[in-house]
Amino acid sequence: MQNLGKFITFEGVDGAGKTVQVERTKNFLIQKGIKTIAIREPGSTEIGEKIRNLILENEMSAISETLMFFAARAELVQQIITPSLQEGTWVICDRFYDSTLVYQGVLKNFDIEKIMQLKFLTIGDLEPDLTIILNLSPEISAKRVAKRTSHETNSEKNKFDDMQLSYYKKISESYEKIADIFDYRAEIINANKSEEKVSESIKKILIDKFQI
Ligand code: TYD
Repeated sequence: MQNLGKFITFEGVDGAGKTVQVERTKNFLIQKGIKTIAIREPGSTEIGEKIRNLILENEMSAISETLMFFAARAELVQQIITPSLQEGTWVICDRFYDSTLVYQGVLKNFDIEKIMQLKFLTIGDLEPDLTIILNLSPEISAKRVAKRTSHETNSEKNKFDDMQLSYYKKISESYEKIADIFDYRAEIINANKSEEKVSESIKKILIDKFQI
């Protein structure tokens, strides 16, 4: 069956303001008269939320984590995403399989080829029509995290900042690569601007891409 709705995913480093922009985008589309739902990964189904708690609260191997993300994703696609798209509802998803490529693939060194095999096994050829990547410079991401750890001594803080910097650098570079590889669907937005400006950039992309 053909998809009548559009599938839009949001990606980016933690703290780039995805949640706010997902909500704003949903409201914008609804104002345009388009039936739209917003969901998040992992989660948004009963099984998905249980898996979310399992993953976020427990340390585990990269393979287990990857399989769990795909199990949660398979539920989400079968129960919510596919039926909604088929009836013409637009679906906005806070993270999708690009997150697995970045967090498990690049950060945890899980083989990218295997991730793609699991992708096809669990959700087939489903691809987003548009992926908005909210990118922050690694320095700003690190600063935001450093603010939350202001109890550290200065010397510890520098070391911590460095660690954060390399971690965030990896995430940012990986998303830039994703934007290159999937250039037919991915758009990078500089998230180091006001909420309002970021939202305006997203609206412009939606209008251009979907002629709404
Ligand atoms: P969440 O609290 O939703 O964070 P955020 O607001 O940044 O989205 O937690 C989701 C975490 O799970 C986030 O750190 C990214 C991670 N994640 C993966 O590692 N792999 C995945 O496939 C997905 C979807 C998320």
